[in-house]
Amino acid sequence: MPAPALLFPADPLNPHRPDPHFAWEARVLRGLGGELYLVDHDALLAGNAEEAVRQVPRDCGPLWYRGWMVPSADYAAFARALAGRGAHLLTSAAGYASAHELPGWYSVFEGATPPSVWIPVRTAARPEPAELAAAVERLGGRGPAIVKDYVKSRKHEWHEACYVPDMADLAAVGRVVARFVELQGEYLTGGVVLRRYEEFRRAGGAGSGRNGSGGNESGGNGDGGNGDGPDEPGEGASDGASGARRGGDERAVEARVWWLDGEPVLVGPHPDTPGQSAEPDLTDVRPLVRALGCRFVTTDLASRADGSGWRVVEVGDGQVSDLPRGIDASALLTSLIAA
Ligand SMILES: Nc1ncnc2c1ncn2[C@@H]1O[C@H](COP(=O)(O)OP(=O)(O)O)[C@@H](O)[C@H]1O
Ligand SMILES: [Mg+2]
Repeated sequence: MPAPALLFPADPLNPHRPDPHFAWEARVLRGLGGELYLVDHDALLAGNAEEAVRQVPRDCGPLWYRGWMVPSADYAAFARALAGRGAHLLTSAAGYASAHELPGWYSVFEGATPPSVWIPVRTAARPEPAELAAAVERLGGRGPAIVKDYVKSRKHEWHEACYVPDMADLAAVGRVVARFVELQGEYLTGGVVLRRYEEFRRAGGAGSGRNGSGGNESGGNGDGGNGDGPDEPGEGASDGASGARRGGDERAVEARVWWLDGEPVLVGPHPDTPGQSAEPDLTDVRPLVRALGCRFVTTDLASRADGSGWRVVEVGDGQVSDLPRGIDASALLTSLIAA
């Protein structure tokens, strides 16, 4: 069995080189003696998986992808198109969906992550008020909450489309959800998720009554579509209320832990706060990652503001989680090509 090769998205302006966002990672990989091939991310999203993989040599063996997010259905088509060329992605389509979408990982991480409920919706359709009321009830009926879809939030539109100060105000829940659905538009993935808001430690010190932004997974193709657009740094507004102050040094400090076969191969800062390092205690998270059963995943961890432990903010598929530029990626890439 040959060593796994990596697939990177090609630069849309030059199909023979990696997309500039991933060029440094590709360089590190080459320096380690790793093999890489390029894929056409735009073709993949356009539903043309065969075209997307046309530069991948036949029978090239096991593969990991490192690139922009792809919707789970497109990932499945990607895996099939590669299999048709005698190549195989080491993360199956089912494994990708489990790590990439909150309902796929939530039951495994329940108790270690903020309590969450979700309402499946069709793209651009918003949940009915009665469905929202029932979801709020399942989440305890009151208290602050976060709105997102199965994959992404609109954390940069915190007040408008992400944070609900008190779920007991059903009209406010409805407004934030409606705005979220509107802004997500065609990028809305799966459905609307409500999560209980928790206070995390922020860059400026212990959190108390305010939150910071943060973000997670890797990106998109820069087309501004949330759900596959790269995270930008958070920006803040402040009104002093709980959960209301965002951005700058108020951001929650998250550590991104990269797991391969149940082992942490890289613990680094979150891409939104690249200068902030954290050393999370992984004792409780490790068995959960193993229970999820996906070979290559990330967990974004934040420390509770009261110091009572680490929480899993998000799980992601390691292939599409963003790696902050400048981080030492050699241990991660070495592990991937040895897997
Ligand atoms: N339940 C929560 N309690 C407190 N803050 C949260 C919660 N969920 C998300 N956040 C904050 O909002 C940010 C964005 O949420 P996240 O689930 O990571 O979505 P995204 O996929 O858009 O990064 C997080 O980085 C964190 O700072
Ligand atoms: Mg995030």
